[in-house]
Amino acid sequence: MQSDRILQSKTEYEEVAREILEHDRRYYVDDNLTVADGEYDRLRKALLFAEAAHPDWMVPWSPSQRVGHAPLSAFQKVVRAVPMLSLDNTYDEADVREFHERVGRGLQVVGDPEPPVYVVEPKIDGIGIELRFQAGRFVLGATRGDGLMGEDVTQNLRTIKGLPLLLREPVDLLVRGEVYMERADFARLNAERLAGGEEPFKNPRNATGGTLKQLDPRIVAQRPLKILLYEVVEKVGLASHFEVLAWLRQLGLPVTHEVAQVTSLDGLLGAIRAFGERRKNLPFDVDGMVLKVNSFAQREALGFTARAPRWAIAYKYPAQQATTKVLSVEINVGRTGAVTPVALLEPVELAGTTVSRASMHNWDQVKRLGVQIGDFVLVEKAGEIIPQIVAVISEQREGRESELTEIMTPTVCPVCGDELVRRAGEVALRCPDTRPCPAQLREAIDFFCHRDAMNIENVGQKLIEQLVARELVKDLADLYDLTVAQLLLLPRMAEKSATNVIGAIQRSKQTATLSCFITALGIPSIGWVWAQKVADRYRALSTLLDTPPEEIFTTLSALHGFGEERARSVSGFLAEPRNIQLLHKFISRGIVPTEPEQKGEAGPLLGKTVCVTGTLSVPRGDIKKRIEAAGGKFVSAVTGKTSYLVLGEAPGEDKRKSALKNNVSMLDEAGLEALLRGPA
Ligand code: IVH
Repeated sequence: MQSDRILQSKTEYEEVAREILEHDRRYYVDDNLTVADGEYDRLRKALLFAEAAHPDWMVPWSPSQRVGHAPLSAFQKVVRAVPMLSLDNTYDEADVREFHERVGRGLQVVGDPEPPVYVVEPKIDGIGIELRFQAGRFVLGATRGDGLMGEDVTQNLRTIKGLPLLLREPVDLLVRGEVYMERADFARLNAERLAGGEEPFKNPRNATGGTLKQLDPRIVAQRPLKILLYEVVEKVGLASHFEVLAWLRQLGLPVTHEVAQVTSLDGLLGAIRAFGERRKNLPFDVDGMVLKVNSFAQREALGFTARAPRWAIAYKYPAQQATTKVLSVEINVGRTGAVTPVALLEPVELAGTTVSRASMHNWDQVKRLGVQIGDFVLVEKAGEIIPQIVAVISEQREGRESELTEIMTPTVCPVCGDELVRRAGEVALRCPDTRPCPAQLREAIDFFCHRDAMNIENVGQKLIEQLVARELVKDLADLYDLTVAQLLLLPRMAEKSATNVIGAIQRSKQTATLSCFITALGIPSIGWVWAQKVADRYRALSTLLDTPPEEIFTTLSALHGFGEERARSVSGFLAEPRNIQLLHKFISRGIVPTEPEQKGEAGPLLGKTVCVTGTLSVPRGDIKKRIEAAGGKFVSAVTGKTSYLVLGEAPGEDKRKSALKNNVSMLDEAGLEALLRGPA
């Protein structure tokens, strides 16, 4: 292993910062890894060490400063000189012809003899934004808002790893583009949200919009946002759009390569058709093509209408739909008891995948659509991963009436038979879980053991099913009563795996903090981030139990960003006798989680989360105490929320990889010492 690099001067420090940004850009924008892991780590370590040792060297565009700000209480408004207009939409080829003819006429009027060249590029289905760079530094990013006035979301945009905080040249630049989320990242995010009892986002675009509205950049940093740029606002001394795109790329900005230049109507239509096929293979949603006049002189001559430029138009592809038959309806019972209808379909090809299930969201939706089993329906995939039924094809009912069966809204839970309820203000029907309901218990156990919750490995779905079916586990606390002997009675369970399972369960008593425990309880809308806030405020399970729920409600709703709905969710949970009983049962089994004390309100590590891997020169417990005394939080796993990973001798490969993936800063023991000492 190469020895640590110590940066000797501010100039050398800045060189290293630039080098890291360049590696990040190649990795996140070009999908091209150009540096060995070890070398990259060495650079980051050197940078962090230098920043800890010489705080005055720190530059605002340092790659360590992507999440550099505390949560905001509101976004500042940004008023722009050049409004962000939208584009006129077209849906068929005749409209494209009309656009082409209009452009031709417009140019004739001003006596421009040159036939127009067009640039055709994907219309990214995301959220439009504007970025300002000053002397190459990213200084301001704003949403579109009403076009003239947007919101300053700079601190959220800084967390996007594909966005360079410093350009390759020290230019002033105002540039527009789109923030978006790839489909696969969106699917993962939604799976996590569902597991955390949070509402899933409807599609990648909504997820992007919701994320940009977050006031806490730490939350944004965990969301897989991407960005592509496509227009400059002010003149940059180039004659055409195509040249501008190339120049933006040269500056290090992410720009799509999916651009075509064409010179005729046939060229436009050809590009639209060709891309219509290819877009399914792109990792993100493209809802159309933007057709733009290339020459800036011609753009100027053509001008604008009140709402859109005359030199560009958006061609929108029709939504992807298919027809198929509803074979039956499955009733799904979720962790929070929501009982939802899922249509099982005759498999059909739709947008490159075979679809055999479609969500119907809730029972009101079934009524609204009037769908019956046996019906032919139109299914659509418009951004969403899970296809939706959009309409019943009633013409196809004729003569087949006897084959149709009405879909009845259930009144009892299909799993436990309990009577379903509808809470005030909710559309969802829920199983109240009074019996309790095995379906909800299974989901709850799975969630309880999750890595971000109690982190109990080896307890998979199959095992959970058996534990619940045999009534070995009737509530979450029963997990701690399980014995190796009991597990050995289960089919296909060997001594070694039984011992591992019980070991992992028992270990969680010691390792889980209060925030992990609260997350693990699966209180609706209280995922990891919010559980952390509750734990920070109450510190010990016993304190939570000793505080009257109304007081908890008042305290939590006053916490920044927490909100009344979440506060009520927590206080409601703690007012429920069954839950109180369960919590006491946990305590009696030796689960008494606390949150590591952050000493005082100050310290060089205040607000920082530190994980350690490998052997350090002092015992782990001592390091933990010192980190906490410096205001930091000691954690056992590296996630997007971790600030630093300290590498000791023989560090764990997984932690290191996870740190690299989540852009977590890495340092060695000396680097940690420097951090603990704080700025000189
Ligand atoms: S150019 C003056 N190019 O679509 C027009 N817009 O419906 C400047 N969009 O507000 C926009 N991809 O948010 C342009 N390649 C692209 C685009 C694009 C997506 C969005 C943008 C715009 C909206 C118009």
